[in-house]
Amino acid sequence: MKLFIDTANITEIKEMAEAGVIDGVTTNPSLVAKEGHQFHKLIAEICAIVNGPVSAEVMALNTADMVTEAHKLAKIHANVVIKIPMTMDGLRAVRILTSEEIATNVTLVFSPNQALLAAKAGAKFVSPFVGRIDDCGGDGMDLVTQIMDIYDNYAFDTEVIVASVRHPLHVVQAALIGADIATLPYAILKKMPDHPLTDIGITRFLSDWEGGRKNG
Ligand code: G3P
Repeated sequence: MKLFIDTANITEIKEMAEAGVIDGVTTNPSLVAKEGHQFHKLIAEICAIVNGPVSAEVMALNTADMVTEAHKLAKIHANVVIKIPMTMDGLRAVRILTSEEIATNVTLVFSPNQALLAAKAGAKFVSPFVGRIDDCGGDGMDLVTQIMDIYDNYAFDTEVIVASVRHPLHVVQAALIGADIATLPYAILKKMPDHPLTDIGITRFLSDWEGGRKNG
């Protein structure tokens, strides 16, 4: 399973890249706006840190402008993946970009039919937003299961990025379903190595070691 980090913060990306736990990065307009840096420079900086797919989202809503924006973003680095919102204009843009061998990530996916269309248009990645579905009283992981089943039934190559992850259990659920990728906020990646029994175990080993040294 691949893990991406869902952030545009350079410090967070560097920390997780140094630990060797991330295979790529996803950004979105909200995350980029929070950093207050020039968009294209920020994406270039991220690509210099992580040797894997880096999703950068277009802001245009019509196909022609999406494709123009995508061409500029794709020139930044070979690892840039163009994030395209799930609309009919977006699907047309995906088809054009796929024919030009530019990788796309169809985002804001909330239904199996949307994911089916994204795969048919040729998207390299599709991003179901599990947390936002849970926030509305639905079950985001059910959607991931359905998408994985549909893609398996027809051998679609599109990879599923579980996005809008809210807690470490979402990561376990995504892994058990067999999702290709989960993209995780920094705060969740930080929580994953923690377990109280690990801390207790370390403390006990240290005190036993010190006790043994005093005696011996
Ligand atoms: O980057 C897309 C997605 O992960 C956003 O998550 O927490 O804003 O629903 P969230």
